[in-house]
Order: sequence, then structure tokens, then C-alpha cells
Amino acid sequence: MTNAPLSIVQPDPAGLAVAADMLRAGQLVAFPTETVYGLGADARDDTAVAGIYAAKGRPSFNPLIVHLANLAMAETLCDFNDDAHRLAGAFWPGALTLVLPLRPDARISKLVTAGLDTLAIRVPDHPVAQALLAAFGGPVAAPSANPSGRVSPTTATHVADGLGRKINGLVDGGPCGVGLESTIISCVDTPTLLRAGGIPAEAIEACLGRPLATSADPETPVAPGQLASHYAPKGTMRLNAQTAGPDEVMLGFGPVDALLNLSPSGDLTEAAARLFDCLHQLDAINATHIAVSPIPNHGLGVAINDRLQRAATPRD
Ligand code: TXA
Ligand code: MG
Repeated sequence: MTNAPLSIVQPDPAGLAVAADMLRAGQLVAFPTETVYGLGADARDDTAVAGIYAAKGRPSFNPLIVHLANLAMAETLCDFNDDAHRLAGAFWPGALTLVLPLRPDARISKLVTAGLDTLAIRVPDHPVAQALLAAFGGPVAAPSANPSGRVSPTTATHVADGLGRKINGLVDGGPCGVGLESTIISCVDTPTLLRAGGIPAEAIEACLGRPLATSADPETPVAPGQLASHYAPKGTMRLNAQTAGPDEVMLGFGPVDALLNLSPSGDLTEAAARLFDCLHQLDAINATHIAVSPIPNHGLGVAINDRLQRAATPRD
């Protein structure tokens, strides 16, 4: 954690060189990915990784995703089996995180894995993330760049508003295209869906040629109430609402009368990209009661509904 002024850098070679130097110095740098903004630190540096938990106010040492420039670097950290190679070949760079056995010689901070012998890794597809990872040349641990318990950031402004005084650097790469976190698949044993996300499970099953197993949510164990409401705006939310009540603000989907609409045309990709920004906007207007249209539960709709259900979970 830091009280130093935030350096906001542009995603040009000079700005990225500054950001890479900050990572080398053990500092915290937020950067855009195609899913959401990540809060990055050198994954080999215990102090830097501890700083991520401190800045986010994360209640527990939940393991973090390590971001890499390419598959070759990922293979130095984890053991890939055939399923993992197939998925990496099809979806990297992109919004897929693979959980794989950690190689004994990987030299990743135990704060990243929370002491597990597996590691979550991803090669992101955003050109700015790619350029930063190439300039840094090492593994970058990065959870979403929001205070713990708040909505994931999809613009640099969201990051600055939420964490501005607690991090060192911020690469401003504009809004994120996907807008939902990555899909997490464990390939340690039989391929298992750990978190629905930016790549629909159907696409992954089509690539593997068989259905995914499912497991308990990786975010549930330690403090269920808190973690269940991870993606939370400040107001209470009522899901599957056809219309807003007198005290409610409507978050619409499809051709409905709504103050904010995830996608007036009913497009799930557009809705995913706009979801977190709409939740931030509801906070900005101090919406206390929010009614949300039904979202079809297929494709990206599964991940959207997962995030909405977490946002709607009652909390203190
Ligand atoms: O799109 C994304 O995935 C974004 C961007 C920044 O890449 N990152 C992100 O990270 O969403 P975070 O920390 O908010 O979520 C990481 C998830 C957590 O649910 C964590 O429990 C799970 O990944 N995870 C990490 N390592 C794991 C492991 N070894 N086994 C199982 N789950 C793991
Ligand atoms: Mg997160």
C-alpha cells in the first residue's frame, strides 16, 4: 500500500516503459485487459504481491491469476497436459484462465497461490496488456483492480476512483471490450469450470469435445457472505424484474423502459461489456433500489447472471 501520488501513464512505448520499471521496482500498476482492469505486481515478489492484498483490502489470501505474454512463458510455470494445450491453443490470447499444476522451479510467490500446488494463468488479448507484459518480461499477478467487495473496473476512471490513493501506477487503455472476468477452467484433472466468464462454457466444451465438470465456486470458502456479494453496487438489487417499482431504478435488457440499459437490442455481448460500467453508474447516481430485467441464461448470459446474483446477495 502506498500514499504516493498515482502516476497515470499513456499506453505508448514511453508510458509502458515507465509502467514496466514500476513493476520491476515492486510497485503496483493497474492495467487494462480485454476482460477488466487488473491490479498488477511482480508475481515473484512477496512484498509486491502482499501490496495487492493490502491495496484491495482483500479479506483473505485468495489465490491470484498470473498474466503472461505468451504460451512459452506459461509453460515455464505450469505443467500442461493435452487438454490444457488444446484450450490454450484455441483461446489464448484471450479471456480464459487455466488452473494447472505449478512447476517446482516456477519461483512464484506463495502469496499468489495461497500456498496451493496449482496456479491460475492467463495470456490476455488486450494490446496494452500484451505490450506491458512484453516490456516487463516476467509473470504479473493481477486480480481485478477494485477494492474488495466492489464492482470490477472496466475503465481507468473506475480504477482511479476505487484505488487511486493505494496504487502507484495506472495505464489508461480506455474501456475494456469484454467487460466480464475471464472464464476459469481447471485442467489439473478432468477439465472443470471454476468460474463462468468472458468465454462461454459451450465454446470450451466444443473445443474439448466433451462436457466440462463443475465444482464449488472458488470464491466461496472463507467468508461466504462477503465473497458471495463480491460484485456489489451499493444499492440493493431485485433480479428478473419486468418493470421498476416506485422507489426503484431500472437496469434494463432488451426493449424495456429503463434509466440504464445493458443492451436495448438484447445483445448478450454488448450487455457483458456494459455490465460493470452500468453498476458503477448506479453507484454514481446513488441508486438505493435497483430492478434488473431478466437476462437469458445461455452463452455469456450465464456469466452475467452469476455476477448479478452476487451483486443481489444481501450483505451488511
Ligand atoms: O479476467 C480476469 O480474470 C481478471 C483480469 C484482471 O485478468 N482477473 C480476475 O482476478 O478476475 P480475481 O483475482 O478477481 O479472480 C481470480 C479468481 C478467484 O476466484 C480465485 O479464487 C481463482 O481465480 N483462482 C486463482 N488461483 C486459483 C487456483 N490455483 N485454483 C483455483 N482457483 C484459483
Ligand atoms: Mg475480482
